[in-house]
Amino acid sequence: MSSKPNLENVKRILVVGAGAMGSQIGMVGALAGYQVTIQDISEDMLTKAQAALAERMDRNVSKGRMERTDTDAALGRMNYLTSIQDAASTADFVIEAAVEKLETKRGIFQELDRHAPPHAVLATNSSTLGSSQVADITGRADRVCNMHFFNPALVMKCVEVVRHEQTSQETVDTAMGLAERMGKSPILINREIPGFVANRLLGALRTEALKLYDDGIASFQDIDTAAKTALGHPMGPYELMDLVGIDVVHLIRQAHFEETGDPADLPHPALTELYEAGHYGRKTGQGWYTYSE
Ligand code: 3HC
Repeated sequence: MSSKPNLENVKRILVVGAGAMGSQIGMVGALAGYQVTIQDISEDMLTKAQAALAERMDRNVSKGRMERTDTDAALGRMNYLTSIQDAASTADFVIEAAVEKLETKRGIFQELDRHAPPHAVLATNSSTLGSSQVADITGRADRVCNMHFFNPALVMKCVEVVRHEQTSQETVDTAMGLAERMGKSPILINREIPGFVANRLLGALRTEALKLYDDGIASFQDIDTAAKTALGHPMGPYELMDLVGIDVVHLIRQAHFEETGDPADLPHPALTELYEAGHYGRKTGQGWYTYSE
């Protein structure tokens, strides 16, 4: 097989990382008919991901959104492994969705490059790190790009495919084509910039929302209401921070500041306060809002 990526050769997808993003990205791939492996060093994370996905699929069937035969077949196309070497060896396309730490990602890309077949594209779901920062540790920089999904990945249609200077056209075409076959609406980003496109738009809204609240202009609940009832957003900016995770939002902002060096880009103090208190949003039961489940 040629080492040039080609959408038609993609049969097996590997997703690295069994968190909320990784597991749902894998499920989207399996629902689209691909053989999917989810790899995580934590057996516990894999077990939890498997249970959460089965529960999600049950819900989709009971609500009449999907057929049981389809969800069972998709769940049957999913494998869960702790060994990255084994997982990578049969992958035609890899989407890394591990923790947003550069050193961890570099280690993962090095392993992936060693063990994945030469034609395999190595994509990262990172929203903060351009793929050039991991491409240089591999011997296939031309087959590395970002493929950034949105939370919740089972639902949100957008995928940002971001090329770095050395990403080949075949890699871009394969990533865009794969996103389409996964039922998504990919957009192509021609150059690595902090926040890509969607998070830049969201960041502008979030900055303004935090300022309005901080200045005592309105409660954060009322700001959310305005976003929903005046602008038609499905969620207000504060609800969305809780969904995405206060830790993730904080990290995105910190990474943005580190790229620009502009103190105006530092995480907002109110956000830092929640972050330092460990109030990460829905996943901890407390963020801007309190969650009972
Ligand atoms: N996982 C999977 N599916 C979910 C879900 C989740 N966490 N949350 C909701 N859904 C699906 C379910 O099918 C759910 O129906 P169900 O509860 O009957 O099973 C259906 O969506 C509707 O959910 P809800 O009734 O709870 O509420 P909504 O109608 O408001 O829909 C939403 C939920 C789809 C999350 C919608 O509110 C929305 O689109 N919100 C905005 C999300 C957004 O902006 N995401 C981008 C975040 S930025 C990001 O990801 C970038 C990264 O770099 C940080």
